[in-house]
This record gives sequence, structure tokens and C-alpha cells, in this order.
Amino acid sequence: MSSGDLKSFIHLLEQADQLVRISTVVDPHLELACIVDRVSKGAGRGRGLLFETVLGSALPVAVNLFGSLERVGWALGTTDLEGMARQFAADLQATGEGDGERAMRVLSGKNEWQPVVVSNPVCRTVNHSRRGLKVLPPITAWPGDGGPYLTMTQIYSRHPDGGMLNCGMYRIQCHGSHTATIRCRPGSGAASHLAAWHARGMAMPVAVAIGGPPILNWAAAAPLPNDVEETAFCGYLQGRPLAMSNCQTSDLQVPASADIVIEGVIEPGVMRSEGPFGNHTGSYDVEASAPVFQVQSVHARQDAICPWTLVGPPPMENIQLARVTARLFLPLVRMVLPTLRGLHMPGEGIFHRAALVTVDPAEQRPLTEVARLLWDTLLLKGARLLVVGADDHDPHDPSAVFWRVLNRADWQRDLLIENGQMAIDARRLPAGEPVRCDPGMLAKVLARWHEYGLDGSD
Ligand SMILES: Cc1cc2nc3c(=O)[nH]c(=O)nc-3n(C[C@H](O)[C@H](O)[C@H](O)COP(=O)(O)O)c2cc1C
Repeated sequence: MSSGDLKSFIHLLEQADQLVRISTVVDPHLELACIVDRVSKGAGRGRGLLFETVLGSALPVAVNLFGSLERVGWALGTTDLEGMARQFAADLQATGEGDGERAMRVLSGKNEWQPVVVSNPVCRTVNHSRRGLKVLPPITAWPGDGGPYLTMTQIYSRHPDGGMLNCGMYRIQCHGSHTATIRCRPGSGAASHLAAWHARGMAMPVAVAIGGPPILNWAAAAPLPNDVEETAFCGYLQGRPLAMSNCQTSDLQVPASADIVIEGVIEPGVMRSEGPFGNHTGSYDVEASAPVFQVQSVHARQDAICPWTLVGPPPMENIQLARVTARLFLPLVRMVLPTLRGLHMPGEGIFHRAALVTVDPAEQRPLTEVARLLWDTLLLKGARLLVVGADDHDPHDPSAVFWRVLNRADWQRDLLIENGQMAIDARRLPAGEPVRCDPGMLAKVLARWHEYGLDGSD
């Protein structure tokens, strides 16, 4: 199971009754997003949607394709995510590296997973450079948004000294046919490349791919180590190298099967106002200055489809992408904290902002040490809330976690606030024996259950 491009992924979803085609004309200004919001919250069985007729755009728009754990698994080429995670854990161990990030580097650095560069890629069949961004559907999600945005992006950049190709998912606001802004947070791969180019007074080449191999949509949003190339890691995960194509205006590469490829530059010091942008926090990011992306060329496949994702109050598609990341990267956290048992990153925290973990009783180190180890991992470095519990409950059960925290944590002793992040130690088991039914009595009650007239209520 592996989809080389967006079109075959959509076909796969359709075969599995996981996709609805909408032929009714839909307005990209607020209407499309309003539909997606409802579907993200369960309407239409949460299926993926293909808007075939979007007002003002010749391109169909695909949304919510990654709206379930199962579908993200398919994008990664598997029907067995647990199996994939176990294999990843075993492969990391087999590298012999004690450090997770180094092990990942060794794994994805193998020759067999390096992308293959092909010539005459389908992503360059049609030249839309004259119309530029106007060829794309102008999707505005929320009434207060500053304009149309591209959200399901793969943004490729490289350090001026060469080296690794970074691929990140950052939002792009379209301001005109050849002008956009890219908002990459400080600390992101693109932001650090940008700083290096601009420190030398040079324009940074940027390539944006939209669509193509679905696995890259996951990888672009996943917190990979800076020196692990997303494209090589995807090759490893799906068990075959990705096909890439060289850019026309730079030494960057984009997936050969991408639906749309936008090339351009970010000149030093050229900024403009970006936003407001309705975000996953439930409120708008306010207007702020962002680097201007000057578009030089736009190419597309003959049958291009524009994938897009809605960002806003959860649950949304991004939660499913992040759930897969949390599961796959669990072994990396275990390499740092072998006593880690369970990990849950609740959707309300849009994943990276909260982590509920359980550790086995052998873990006797104080909260300060445990929390710092966890905050030092790529997966959990952004966790504003970290709850460390004992191994007597499932961290995926919020009620169980809340119960333990409220009854076990002593706020004088079990709370750590450091660098704007908070950790709670809920491991301390109460002194008394656990309260449970008498086992003999329970067996008797179960045997007589039908006598009480309570059948069907258990
Ligand atoms: C739907 C979606 C939109 C995102 N938008 C942004 C964004 O606008 N800016 C940003 O810095 N990160 C954004 N992110 C998070 C990054 O994609 C994520 O941090 C990723 O690891 C960045 O890659 P990098 O580590 O190579 O920089 C977004 C993630 C998702 C799922």
C-alpha cells in the first residue's frame, strides 16, 4: 500500500468509501472552509472531500484527506501503523546509536533511501508562470482572515553553504499574482536558512510543492531533526526512494509528481504585513510583518489538484497528522527515557503543546530531571504542559489523568515551571491500599447479575 501521488491517494480513498466528490459550485471565500469545519467535526462521516468546481479556479481542491489515523497511515504506505512504529523502533536500535536523532540520521542516510532525481517530471507539464498564483484557488477560511492562504504546503529550502534540503509546512498568504508571504516560525528549518542567506545579503531561493506524494504532507509537518532530510526519511518509511526533480531557478528539488510547483525568492529586508490568520488556538493571529516571497514561476501537472487544509479550533485534520507523529516518534523519546510507558498528546494542545506520560515504578528520578529529559526531545520540546503519571492508568484517558493529578499532586512539591513550560508530577501513589471490590464478592455478584434485573445495563 503506497500512493506515489495525490491522484492515486484520492483514488484509494474513493475505493474505501473515504472520499466524497462535491460537484456543486463552491465559493472559496468562506463557504469551502465552513463545509470543511463541519466535516472535520464529524459531519459527512469525516471523509475526505474533493471539491470539483471551485468558483474562480480551474483546479479542484482536496481537503481532509488526512482526517483519520487510518488515512494518514495509508499516506505513509501502511495499513498497520503499530507495525510500522515497531519496525522503526527496531531499526533505530539496530543502528547501534544510543542517541535517537543520531540513529535517525544513520537510518535515513542510507543510500537506498536517497531520492532519485528524474528528468521531464509531470509536475512541469503546464507552465502557469504568467498567471502566477492567480491559477490557484483563492481560499479564505475565516471572516477575519487577511486574505487567501495556501496551507497544505511543502516548502523547500537549503542553507547557502548547501547540505540538507529542508521541507516544512508553513502557511502562505497570497497577496497578488506574483507576491506572497511565508510565515515560518523562528526555530523552523526555513527560518534558520533564511537568516543564513540574509546574513550574507543574498536572496534565498524557495520552492513550494503542493500535492504529490501524500507522505510528504505528513513529513513537512513532522518535527524531524534538522540534519535528517524529510525526503530521505520518507524513502525509508515507505521502503522505496522518492522521485524528485531539479528546480529551474535554484539547486532545490521538488517531488516529481507534485501537482503544483512554485519557485521564487525571498530578498533580504523585503517584508510586508501578513494576517490576520484564524489559528488553532481559536483566535486570530494578529497582523504582523513577514518575509515576502517573490514568485518567479508556477508549473503544474496536466490534471493538477490543489490539496488544502483548514486551520482552526480542533478537531481538525492536523490533529490526525500529529497523532501519527506521536506514535511513530515514541521510540525516540524512549531512547532518552527508557522508563517511559505511555504517551498521549491531546488534540486540544494541537499536539506539541501538551503531553501526558506514564513511567514505570523504577523511574525514581525527581520531576526536574524527568521533565528536562522529555523537553529535550524534538517531539516534546514544545509541550507547555507535561504530566508525568505512574504506570497504573492509560494516559489516553483524560478522566483517569485528571483524577490522578487532582488527588496525587502536591502543588508545593510536584509542580515545575521552567522557561514558560509547566510539568506536574502525579506519580506519587497514596499511602493507603488501593480501593477495590472484594474479588470473591465480585465473582458472586457477576454470577447473580441476572437476578438483580440489571441485565443490559452493564
Ligand atoms: C496545517 C499546518 C500548518 C502549519 N503552519 C505553520 C506555519 O505557518 N509556520 C510554521 O512555522 N509552522 C507551521 N506548522 C508547523 C510546522 O509545519 C512544523 O513545525 C514542521 O516541523 C516545520 O518543519 P521544519 O522543522 O523543517 O521547519 C504548521 C503545521 C501544520 C500541520
